[in-house]
Amino acid sequence: MDSFLIKGSVPLHGEVAISGAKNAVLPIMAATLLTAEPCVIRRVPNLSDVKFMGQILTWLGAHVRFEGDSVHIQARKIKGAGDYDLIRKMRGSICVMGPLLGRLKKAAVSLPGGCVIGARPINLHLKGFAALGAKVMIENGYVHASAKRLVGSAMFLGGRAGSTVLGTANVMMAATLAEGVTVIESAACEPEVVDLANFLIAMGAQISGAGSPTLTITGVKELHGAEHEVIPDRIEAATYAIAAVATNGEITLRGARADHLRAVLDKLKDAGAGIERRGADITIRRNGRLKPVDITTLPYSGFPTDVQAQMMALMTLTPGISIITERIFESRFMHVSEMTRLGADIEIEGPSAIVKGGKPLSGAPVMASDLRASAALVIAGLAARGTTQVNRVYHIDRGYENIDGKLRQLGARIERIEES
Ligand code: EPZ
Repeated sequence: MDSFLIKGSVPLHGEVAISGAKNAVLPIMAATLLTAEPCVIRRVPNLSDVKFMGQILTWLGAHVRFEGDSVHIQARKIKGAGDYDLIRKMRGSICVMGPLLGRLKKAAVSLPGGCVIGARPINLHLKGFAALGAKVMIENGYVHASAKRLVGSAMFLGGRAGSTVLGTANVMMAATLAEGVTVIESAACEPEVVDLANFLIAMGAQISGAGSPTLTITGVKELHGAEHEVIPDRIEAATYAIAAVATNGEITLRGARADHLRAVLDKLKDAGAGIERRGADITIRRNGRLKPVDITTLPYSGFPTDVQAQMMALMTLTPGISIITERIFESRFMHVSEMTRLGADIEIEGPSAIVKGGKPLSGAPVMASDLRASAALVIAGLAARGTTQVNRVYHIDRGYENIDGKLRQLGARIERIEES
């Protein structure tokens, strides 16, 4: 398993091109199952999760061809059920279920199971499918959904932590080919859901209210092929913005969407960052002393849970006490124990982490656990004195395109150690 060797305390300077959003491209690739016609998706990031989704679609019978930063997909004939454990390896692929149900009126996938950040249930996905008239049952670790006809209806998809991103995506996709009107209350408002809705509309779907908590889909007979450019990855952009402040450097994000980053940029300003916007470019630097901030993760447009760990890395460097409360997932503090190995002072109190920051971090070997926790450890290593080795970086390769190459371009002393 590869690891990164990072020599810290080097301010990062320069510009970084933001790749297409992982969490938009995965459901958009799944959505191509809704038509037998060819689709082209552009600005596709070169990530292991994306390649994996390509394998799943191929397994289902689609023709998938990656070409540079585009992917050509045609699902002429597909199978809707079957024994593939691929879902287990990548949770995000649960979003093939909605399109399979929409197109074939049947779907069977292995239950995704939990991961390090939480149980990751899919009860709300299944509630939405049932509301469309599907019969849902769980048997031998597989979830089956089938329907003679899918009929639109009104449903509430909010759960204990608010809206569900992939649950909204899944039900919206199935509803595009249902008979009649579907109204999803407490729909997720994330930009990635809006991007998926825009792709579905380009395919001929009738959708209104994307980006608002009330999503209305009027079913159509069939969808046709479409082309689409994926939105930039706001979580990748946030990660580099935080790295600029943490290393006391200056980074310009090329092709980012500031309107998708309002909560993050607002918090970074409170934490002592200087931010300048010029069109699709955003330049971030430290602006005087770092200041402690309190953060609570919320559904969009609140502070994103996927940026919680990276912000914690910055707060370990910030003199004072910062309180970080995780309201979306039940155990998304795996990075805390690794950060304390770098000398951070963090105490967990229920859903909150109390960060007593300001002492310089000192490099040490640390273990990556989930995608964003790993990125946070890289940020901490870039700011720490001495050398940090981040192990199991396959977690990072799932969601960050060429992160070591992009960081080296910014002056970071980071090298990838390939373990045979
Ligand atoms: C998406 O996951 C993202 N993944 C996650 O990003 C992100 O953290 C999450 O949304 C929240 O923004 C992709 O888009 C591929 P949820 P998703 O359903 O859709 C509970 C990353 O690092 N819930 O919005 O699976 C759930 O347990 C990844 O890129 C139910 O209770 O998340 C959680 O507490 C990590 N029942 C909360 O809702 C359900 O049926 C939000 O989960 C579904 C979810």
